[in-house]
Amino acid sequence: MTFNPLEHKGIPIDRQLRNWREMNVAPLDPDAVDPYTRCRVIVMNGIEVESIMFSHHFARVCPDPEVKRTLAESRYIEAQQQKVVNWLLPGAASTLETTIAYEQVAVDLTAWVARAEPDPYLKQAYQFGVLEDFDHLYRYSNLYEMIEHRKAERIVDDLTEVIPGRPTKVHHRHPYDNVRDPYDRNTVNPLSKLHALTVMSAEQQTMNFYMNVGPEYMEPIARQLYQEIGLIEEEHVTHYESLVDPGETWWERLVNHEYNEVYLYHSFMETESDPRIKALWELHLNMELGQLQVACDLFRKHDGRDLAEVVAPALPAPLTFEPNKAYVRELLATQLDLTTLGAGYVREAHERFERMQEQIHGGEQPPSEQVIDLHREKFGEEYRVQTDGPVPNEDKMGDPYAGLARP
Ligand SMILES: [Fe+2]
Ligand SMILES: [Fe+2]
Ligand SMILES: [Fe+2]
Ligand SMILES: [Fe+2]
Repeated sequence: MTFNPLEHKGIPIDRQLRNWREMNVAPLDPDAVDPYTRCRVIVMNGIEVESIMFSHHFARVCPDPEVKRTLAESRYIEAQQQKVVNWLLPGAASTLETTIAYEQVAVDLTAWVARAEPDPYLKQAYQFGVLEDFDHLYRYSNLYEMIEHRKAERIVDDLTEVIPGRPTKVHHRHPYDNVRDPYDRNTVNPLSKLHALTVMSAEQQTMNFYMNVGPEYMEPIARQLYQEIGLIEEEHVTHYESLVDPGETWWERLVNHEYNEVYLYHSFMETESDPRIKALWELHLNMELGQLQVACDLFRKHDGRDLAEVVAPALPAPLTFEPNKAYVRELLATQLDLTTLGAGYVREAHERFERMQEQIHGGEQPPSEQVIDLHREKFGEEYRVQTDGPVPNEDKMGDPYAGLARP
């Protein structure tokens, strides 16, 4: 059954404000929660934060006071939505537990998007990125057992494997090589626009999170690992945001943001296992439909084009959290040794990459390697959740570019 968001009025914007009692949501039970329910909560927090920051940036360049007031009204509601969604996370969870959940989101969200993405260049961008967050999950999980004496399988269950991916130490590329080519807003499949916005928003909240929580730790290795992976999330935001056509008008971007929120709340309402959270996704879907109406009114008034040129007539199939173990393993087998050069991908340790590596590592092992060594020293072996047999290409992970031709 198709769902055309433009045919649903949703809740009018002036009836969306919630009082303190309605905002006071009970948190998820960390010991009973479906890991993918927690993943959906984290994604929607990232999406709401992006909608708020986007609206602030829009307001800062908008000279029309009436438009500014309209943006402020929708943005205040987005801010309430963000509070309700993110306050579902339990205070009982440690920062590192939330971090591991963030990396599980990055793996299973990006892998799903890569599988569903119709454009080959965009698909490659997601395939490339997922192997890196997959490795972050492994590094943080080793840190977790070392400093909190608990196992990451409590958090990820056995839905996502915790094994080495493309080694974190080779994620440090020259910033020039993190800028991809954008899609063309006039010819791109509408689904591709939603994918790019979604993954960009998720990576952005991860970047923001590590920037702020990293220094809360006492243990030197934890502080250092957050610095290292925090810098890679900066690279990931650069990588994904550059996929979006910078020629989109501000009105068009606003419509895309609201449309994407509709798409994701609709997707999660359809796939949610927890009835209480499902009801919240449904409420927020109806709010977003009202916000989309506001955005479409602004678009009609100021952009001048037909809305049909910008949005699809029906929502795509729901974005779904589900295991992607075989898919990630296939990427490990075929794309471990990829890096980037300019806007493209190569299997060469090219000169700009090697110079960056020399400078940032300064001849020493980075924190992402030290954390595994320290874990082995303390426990005799590293921590893994390896459910599906030997890790593809593991023998090459020490130096994935060894033996490759120099350009
Ligand atoms: Fe929202
Ligand atoms: Fe990551
Ligand atoms: Fe990332
Ligand atoms: Fe919205």
